Amino acid sequence: MRKQNTIPSHLHLLMLLLGCLYNGELCMSCSESERLALVKFKAGLQDPHQLLSSWEGDDCCTWTGVHCDNETWHVVSLDLQYHHLYHGVSNGGRLSGEINPSLLSLKHLNHLDLSSNHFKGTEIPSFIGSLTGLSYLNLSNAGFIGRVPPQLGNLTSLIYLDLNSFYSMHDLHVDDNFQWLSFLSSLQYLDMSGVNLAKISSDNLFHAVNMLPALSVLILPNCHLHWPQPSSSSSSSSSPYLNLSNSLTTIDLSNNQINSTFPLWLTNSSRLVHLDLWFNHFHGSDT
Ligand SMILES: *[C@@H]1O[C@H](CO)[C@@H](O)[C@H](O)[C@H]1NC(C)=O
Ligand SMILES: *[C@@H]1O[C@H](CO)[C@@H](O)[C@H](O)[C@H]1NC(C)=O
Ligand SMILES: *[C@@H]1O[C@H](CO)[C@@H](O)[C@H](O)[C@H]1NC(C)=O
Ligand SMILES: *[C@@H]1O[C@H](CO)[C@@H](O)[C@H](O)[C@H]1NC(C)=O
Ligand SMILES: *[C@@H]1O[C@H](CO)[C@@H](O)[C@H](O)[C@H]1NC(C)=O
Ligand SMILES: *[C@@H]1O[C@H](CO)[C@@H](O)[C@H](O)[C@H]1NC(C)=O
Repeated sequence: MRKQNTIPSHLHLLMLLLGCLYNGELCMSCSESERLALVKFKAGLQDPHQLLSSWEGDDCCTWTGVHCDNETWHVVSLDLQYHHLYHGVSNGGRLSGEINPSLLSLKHLNHLDLSSNHFKGTEIPSFIGSLTGLSYLNLSNAGFIGRVPPQLGNLTSLIYLDLNSFYSMHDLHVDDNFQWLSFLSSLQYLDMSGVNLAKISSDNLFHAVNMLPALSVLILPNCHLHWPQPSSSSSSSSSPYLNLSNSLTTIDLSNNQINSTFPLWLTNSSRLVHLDLWFNHFHGSDT
């Protein structure tokens, strides 16, 4: 009785294998749980121009913007940057809607790009902080508003964090609970252009930045950086200080209306190759 059952199942497997080889591809496709997670994620989105029309069928690894590991076939990258989905001239039809927490089922995700879409009026979901495999997170100019969630501090593998809000200036802000930044120990690239940082002191902010050993690029223009008034310069320790012995090569602090004596530490680096201080009022020098 048993043999009668096992032989056909072996045959079935063999036929399946031959079928795959005949088609010239490996018998691999995305896992069912990851496919379902993506289907659920898509259901939460509004996609008026059907940018994700390829998101059907069994093999989610072939869907637009979805990239799988070539050996494990797990989804490792979700690149939904608007400019990568749509190459025409029209600006309409950006993705919007809800970011479904089903993304958490993508346990092997290391690259998430939702940039240049239009999630207007929604906050950056705090559960993104639980996607701890991420090394790349790009939420730039995606229409998010509100507080940058401190849960991002759990993303200790993050190398690139892009929260650029140039097109919706100051819709995003960081509040006084910003120590999370100092936990991003792998971070090399931080862009917070146009994120409102007025609620925190630049001294404390730079203190957190100084704890990032690998940080190379720091982009903070139009951030309402809160700089102490030169008059209260009694203690030099309250003066914001970036430790340029670290790996910083690029610093952009432009357009922050800083009115201060010129910070001498800026002259103290051999590595710095790009420095932008436009539209601030630095004058004279520190004592
Ligand atoms: C998988 O991709 C990596 C890098 O993209 C490549 O080096 C490797 O040869 C690929 N493996 C297979 C089995 O295709
Ligand atoms: C994030 O995406 C934008 C386009 O939406 C791109 O210009 C930018 O370079 C990306 N950031 C990083 C760190 O790759
Ligand atoms: C990291 O995640 C845990 C649990 O998910 C949470 O309690 C904690 O506040 C998070 N840490 C940061 C820095 O956000
Ligand atoms: C600056 O960073 C270097 C290298 O990480 C470290 O050795 C040094 O103590 C730091 N200096 C200050 C003033 O924090
Ligand atoms: C900068 O600060 C000095 C001293 O506090 C003040 O006299 C000057 O008017 C300020 N300049 C600007 C452009 O705000
Ligand atoms: C410049 O760097 C040296 C050595 O790292 C340090 O002793 C000095 O205080 C720094 N000067 C300024 C103005 O930061």
